[in-house]
Amino acid sequence: MSTQRIGIIMHGVTGRMGMNQHLIRSVLAIRDQGGVRLKNGDLLVPDVIIVGRNEQKIAELARRHGVERYTTDLDAALANKDDTVFFDAASTQMRPGLLKKAIDAGKHVYSEKPVSESLAEAVEIARHAKKAGVKNGIVHDKLDLPGLLKLKRLRDSGFFGKILSVRGEFGYWVFEGDWMEAQRPSWNYRKQDGGGMVSDMLCHWRYVLDNVVAPVKAVSCNAVTHIPERWDEKGERYEATADDAAYATFELEGDIIAQINSSWATRVRRDDLVTFHIDGTHGSAVAGLHTCYSQARVNTPKPVWNPDQKQTMNFFEDWVEVPDNKVFDNGFKVQWEQFLRHVVEDGPWSYTLEEGAKGVQLAELGYQSSEERRWLDVPALDI
Ligand SMILES: NC(=O)c1ccc[n+]([C@@H]2O[C@H](COP(=O)([O-])OP(=O)(O)OC[C@H]3O[C@@H](n4cnc5c(N)ncnc54)[C@H](O)[C@@H]3O)[C@@H](O)[C@H]2O)c1
Repeated sequence: MSTQRIGIIMHGVTGRMGMNQHLIRSVLAIRDQGGVRLKNGDLLVPDVIIVGRNEQKIAELARRHGVERYTTDLDAALANKDDTVFFDAASTQMRPGLLKKAIDAGKHVYSEKPVSESLAEAVEIARHAKKAGVKNGIVHDKLDLPGLLKLKRLRDSGFFGKILSVRGEFGYWVFEGDWMEAQRPSWNYRKQDGGGMVSDMLCHWRYVLDNVVAPVKAVSCNAVTHIPERWDEKGERYEATADDAAYATFELEGDIIAQINSSWATRVRRDDLVTFHIDGTHGSAVAGLHTCYSQARVNTPKPVWNPDQKQTMNFFEDWVEVPDNKVFDNGFKVQWEQFLRHVVEDGPWSYTLEEGAKGVQLAELGYQSSEERRWLDVPALDI
């Protein structure tokens, strides 16, 4: 048994997602645990080079986390044949161009979502990767959330009977930034900088619905901007040109209706920041990020509508928690490990750029549906 090295170029890791989830909690965590175990028993150890625009920032990040290699020169990093994987978590707008550059340099590519702002670009880059024969992947982190894994477990066991509907509630109050600092980057609220709830979240809802419930067939969406002005990281007022909420309904295979509300302008009074409620003929379940509660047909209470009397039933008490039954690792890290195995030993991997393009497709259709105020079918992609 020995160790193998894999050189990874990481771009956009001074940002929120890149630094916390990808660099620290995934790749460096894999390095610090000794590597990823391969089929032949070897340990695959990431050797990272981090790339950023600001030398001081990137050097400081490298120093803080014991990363030996950093640079501001992406082209030089891509030219190094010893680094075979390129990862991007920088701005969505730059992503297709960066991925193309990396593919042309012969790198395997992995990236944050969305792949791009437009479907045309997403399809083009997915085709380009396929043609070049490089391994490629896109983050689909929600699928490895314990709550969603439990929902999938219930579905696969037949718990729901026939699934009828799904109700998703996502979001929380993102402060405007005037009297209270905002907790998300300001670009998210500017269309011209790649922001927008539909573009941000419908690509997640695509793979969640496709994989945990059933394939998405049609969409009707209303994208709105509830809060028209916000204050940025420097405390300067700006016009919020992007949608900060999306109220969407989806038709799924099997006549299932899914409604998902996504909002940065809602105050939370539910189990978690995202909840998915599935109703089926034989049972229902509600999942948050970690927990999942189920109610089987035989445990279903029988409420009677009576507006003259204060409610005496506590509906939350009629649900049973689905046990963990295993230890769940960080979803981003789980996906990194799968992707690295896919690169070096052709391990199983489903979340290619083609799947990423499906997410961008749903977002694009969501915007079109909202603008034209009508339902749209989701056609199959030809990549
Ligand atoms: N999977 C998820 O749940 C999830 C959640 C949030 C964001 N994201 C995605 O991650 C990406 C980054 O989002 P974030 O919230 O971390 O944003 P962020 O603003 O915190 O980080 C953006 C990063 O990109 C870099 N960057 C921006 N413009 C650049 C340029 N011109 N040249 C070089 N680098 C540049 C910044 O320096 C920073 O490192 C986006 O594509 C977003 O859609 C995914």
